[in-house]
Amino acid sequence: MRLAVIPGDGIGPELLPAALEVLDAAGVPYRATVLDAGWGAFEKHGVALPPATLDAARAADAIVFGAVSSPSHPVAGYRSPIVALRRELDLYANLRPAVSAPVPSSRPGVDLLVVRENTEGLYAGREREEGDGAVAERVVTRRASLRIARRALEEARRRRARGLPGRLTIVHKANVLRLTDGLFRACALEAARDFPEIAVEEQLVDSMAYRMILEPERFDVVVATNLFGDILSDVAAALVGGLGLAASANVGDRHLLVEPVHGSAPDLAGRGVANPVATLRAVALLLEHRGRASEAARLERAIDDCLRSGPRTPDLGGPARTAEVIAAVCETVAGTAALPTVRNGTESA
Ligand code: NAI
Ligand code: MG
Repeated sequence: MRLAVIPGDGIGPELLPAALEVLDAAGVPYRATVLDAGWGAFEKHGVALPPATLDAARAADAIVFGAVSSPSHPVAGYRSPIVALRRELDLYANLRPAVSAPVPSSRPGVDLLVVRENTEGLYAGREREEGDGAVAERVVTRRASLRIARRALEEARRRRARGLPGRLTIVHKANVLRLTDGLFRACALEAARDFPEIAVEEQLVDSMAYRMILEPERFDVVVATNLFGDILSDVAAALVGGLGLAASANVGDRHLLVEPVHGSAPDLAGRGVANPVATLRAVALLLEHRGRASEAARLERAIDDCLRSGPRTPDLGGPARTAEVIAAVCETVAGTAALPTVRNGTESA
């Protein structure tokens, strides 16, 4: 596998070595190229997503993304590289699983998948100053809505085959956003007609947030527009152990980018205590989506062993450092690997 590795800012560079070490331990061969993007790259080159990074990402079999720091005030020329990568590589579906973890802070009985539309909605990048304020346009197209709904329904079908309920919850606010969310809702219902075995329900986004907290075990596959999916997946992460554990796969018809759900966590950066499990789970998603299901399952089991019996980082109430958790998971993976540990090549672009 040719991997494009984008560590980014903050805790990103502290966590990304975990991804490569665990592939070494699992005996999975790869060639990794480490690439620049993010706030650090913007300060160095004046561009947050250098063209060389985008080209290498496009050429890779998969991209492993850390996290980037994006300022909350306008900075001329800065555009979030992860939002740009999703659009440039047409990574239209963001799959964010939330499954109960063997840690005290996780609710039991949760196994849901948020399928977030990744290319339009309020993140379409159409913001401008107007009058004495500013306006953001929310873009919803029939094409993008149909394909994200189909993708969610296919995920529901796959989950059904694995013995899960295989239900779809369509999240929207069509009672207020009649045109945009009205279209999203109509497309999802239309797509569902081709999946008669999948039970479909709808929830308005505000009551969805409420119900996800009260009865998360009720939900299976949840499909939502970009911003709603972003928010609901952080809610889901909080229910099952926190952002230190949550990973996601950004998928298109051709490209794949895996990443932790969390950001660059400036409050933790440089301290060596960030939880690497989200990054390790991102690697499991990569293996699953690149035809290595048995290695993915082995890695998931090693992660669960480590969550159950430690070492645990401070976000889970433990005293461990990032490196101890990575070492523990790698040791378990290597011990159960069918193939010997390999030393793969990594180069910097
Ligand atoms: P954040 O996800 O970085 O942090 C939120 C909270 O979760 C913090 O308390 C942090 O300490 C904790 N946390 C995050 N990752 C953790 C880990 N691996 N282990 C233990 N605890 C962890 O979100 P925040 O603080 O809102 O944003 C910080 C920066 O990250 C901003 O510049 C934002 O733009 C950026 N960001 C980048 C994303 C990306 O690159 N995909 C996604 C979200 C935010
Ligand atoms: Mg987010």
